[in-house]
Parts: sequence; C-alpha cells; structure tokens
Amino acid sequence: MTAEPMTADIVINGATLVTDSAMFAASIAIKDGAILAIGAPEAMPDAAEVVDATGKYILPGAIDAHVHFRDPGYTHKETWETGTASAAMGGVTTVFEMPNTNPPTGNVEALNMKLESAKKAYVDFGIYGLLGEDNLDQLEALIEGGVAGFKCFMGNTFGNLPSPPSGAILEGFEIVAKHGYRVALHAENASIMARRSKKLRENDCCDPLAHLDARPPVVAVEAVSRAAILAEWTGARIHVLHVSSGDELRPLREAKARGVDITAETCPHYLLLDEHAYTEKKSLIRVNPPVREKVHQEQLWQGVADGTIDMIATDHAPHSHAEKHNDDIWRADCGFTGVQTQMPLMLTQIANGRMTLNQYVRMTSLAPAKAFGLYPRKGALLPGSDADIVVVDLDKVVKVDSALLKSKGSSTPFQDYETRGAPIHTLVRGRFVMRDGELVTEAMGHGLNVRRIQKMPTPRPTNTHTTTRAILEKRGKRY
Ligand code: DOR
Ligand code: ZN
Repeated sequence: MTAEPMTADIVINGATLVTDSAMFAASIAIKDGAILAIGAPEAMPDAAEVVDATGKYILPGAIDAHVHFRDPGYTHKETWETGTASAAMGGVTTVFEMPNTNPPTGNVEALNMKLESAKKAYVDFGIYGLLGEDNLDQLEALIEGGVAGFKCFMGNTFGNLPSPPSGAILEGFEIVAKHGYRVALHAENASIMARRSKKLRENDCCDPLAHLDARPPVVAVEAVSRAAILAEWTGARIHVLHVSSGDELRPLREAKARGVDITAETCPHYLLLDEHAYTEKKSLIRVNPPVREKVHQEQLWQGVADGTIDMIATDHAPHSHAEKHNDDIWRADCGFTGVQTQMPLMLTQIANGRMTLNQYVRMTSLAPAKAFGLYPRKGALLPGSDADIVVVDLDKVVKVDSALLKSKGSSTPFQDYETRGAPIHTLVRGRFVMRDGELVTEAMGHGLNVRRIQKMPTPRPTNTHTTTRAILEKRGKRY
C-alpha cells in the first residue's frame, strides 16, 4: 500500500522569501496553519489553492509589540475588531496590547474582560498585564490567567495610571523575574515631567512645543538607567518601549554590555519626524514620549544600524479627531494610529537605502518573537512555523490616507506621505486576513492568544536572597 501524497492547503509561487539573514526565490506550502515546505516550485506538493506571487516578496508577518486597542473602556477610540483589522491591513500578524484600558488590566477579572473583547481579533495577540504599585499581589494570578508580559508606566500617559515608585518596581521585578516574563517599560521619569509641565502650564505656555519642553531626554535617560539597574539586580527581563532620544542609547548599550536581558524598540514617528512636526502638525503630533529634534533622529538610526535598538513597534494609540485637535496642547490626547502604516513607511526607508529588508525582518518579526518567547513558532519562515506571512509589493506606491485606515482613531501625522512598498496579502496561521489589499471580514475572530505557544525561559534571579519575600521568609513570616 502506498501512502497518500501529502496535499497542502495553499502553495504560493513566484515570490522571493526574505528572512533576517537571507533572500531567495522559493515556493512556500502551507498546511493546517503551519509552513509545510519551502523549496523549488516543482518540489511543492499539490495544493487546494495555488497563489501566484510572481515578482513579490514574502516576509514573516510583523509582530508589533506595542499597540493600544482601548477595549474595554474607550471603545469610541478603538476596539479589538477595528484595531486588529488595521493590523491585518498593515501586514501585522501578531500584536501585543497595552493595559491602560478601563478597567486597566491589573487583575484577572479585568484580563478576562479583555480576553472576551479580543475574541473579535483578526490577528494573533499577546496581552500585557499591568505592573503597578497597587496590584503587585495580582501579578502571579495574571500570569496564571494568560498575560504574555507586563507593562509598567514609569511615567504618566493616557489613562493616568499612577507611576510606581522604585520600591514597587523592584518588588514587581522580583516577582515577575521568577517566571521569566518580560516587563515592558514606559521609561519616563514622572516627577521631572510633572514639575516641568506644571511650570509651563502655570505660565500659560500651551503651544505644541511646550509638550516637548516638558519631557526633555533626561526624563527618559533617568528612567531607562534606573530600570536597567533594577533589572540587573533582580534578573528580570525588560523591554524599553518607544526609545525617542539618542541619549537613551548609552544606558541601553551599557546595560546590554553588563548582560542585562534588555530589549528596546523605537517607532516610525521617532525615525521619520522631528521638531518641525510641531509647527506642521500642531497638536496631532502630541505623543509620549515626544517626537524630538533632528539630532535624535540621526542617533536613533545609528542605534537601529548597530543593533542597540532591537525592534520597530508602533505605539498605535488611537484617539478621536476631536481628542487629537486642540489649540491648548495640554488638552490634546497623546498618541496616534500606527499599526497599519508602519510597514509601508518602513519599506519606503528600505527603498531609500536607510535599512535593508533583512534588518527590517529582524526588527519587526524575529526580534519580538525571540524577546517574547514565540520563536520559532513565530518570527520565522521555517517548516513547522506558524504560516504568519505577509506578501509585499515593493514597487507599490501609495499615499497614506487616514480614510483608508481601519482604525477608529485614524488621525495620522503621515497623512499624504508617499510610500513605496506595501503589503498586499496577510495570512495568519495560513488564513488570509487581508487579500489583494482588502480586509477578509469573515476572518474576524481568527486571532488567538499567543500565550498558548509562548515559552519564556526562566531567568536565574541574580539576588534571590535579598528579595522582599526572602527577607520575610528568613524571619519565618509570609510574603
Ligand atoms: O502618546 C502615548 N499615548 N503614549 C503612551 O505611552 C500611551 C499612549 C496612549 O495610550 O494613548
Ligand atoms: Zn504606548
């Protein structure tokens, strides 16, 4: 008896495959949501569907480690349906979603509410639990309940979640370090910003640039350095969100050199915009941390080139049009949409020679997959990996148009930017969620929580004997 020949669900022919380190012409076969084979067209199995992608490029789908989908609580700004639709349209196959919703994701009840909303997701997702001063006793339950990591707001931003003092951060790191989950940090010093912005407001400085003046780079440098010290002490893994200044690169480099498990991301707006944005885009540009002077932009590109910055994420932070536009800068909400425009904007930079496609794959797919324990299920084009695939047309020229964004809060500082290179198909675990540039609406609800496949190595906490728990237990007390 001969075995039935294996049949694939989909074979994609004619494209060039791009990984973090190679680029080669190959066909790719997909079965049961995974990559079955990569090779010569004649070596591919029969398939239920054959897709011609001649002249196109296949990349592992982008993993955006930083999005705010607002649901539950601020669903006039975004929902899981609209946010993940926007991701699908942007070639993003996995997102990590932030806890400054209402309720904040600080306990299991709130997490379960979010998991309920996330049932509408088009793409796969991880959920960050909140690490705050008042919920340290909830962190282990949140891990049990299915978070993929934690977020700590060292500085204030939308949602006004209180910034934990260093003592609480240290204790939070002690708890999370034992389990290996990464803590993402909004690394800005709350008290410096509070004093600066109070003085500016008291003196009626409410122009857009007052926002930048309230948050000088020292705000970020201090927080990154402090977080790195606490992570080094506890063995916690950390991820520095939205690196905005050249100044942050030094503490990042030093911490990496000391062996701290620290990763860092920057966002397209820090790489592509500078202080002129405050005149041109007014309150729309208000974002935390702020878009900075040109000199920082150049240094950030350097950090991208030398690997100090590991990832490109978006800090997708949608707000309504009215919330974004205000003559009083202090009354404009911070942040803007981004998950759908990242790929075309960054592919344009590749067309301009600022980075390579391989670097791009490393920063948007491989690095986040590794940092969050998803590699090689995600972040790779390998047999056995999830078929999270984006097919890209590098020659496609499109203008960014907020009207074409699926996000509810679609104000973008990149309106009318001409981009070169765009995703045309997005597949999540072998299923089209965007096809020929159109959202596949039947795929709503296809997205799954990545926790089911996540494997975080447990770090060896470096100072276990000095943790709050150890010190109490030494005295026969319970933590
Ligand atoms: O500008 C921002 N907006 N920065 C953040 O860190 C949070 C975000 C939001 O949630 O609106
Ligand atoms: Zn954010």
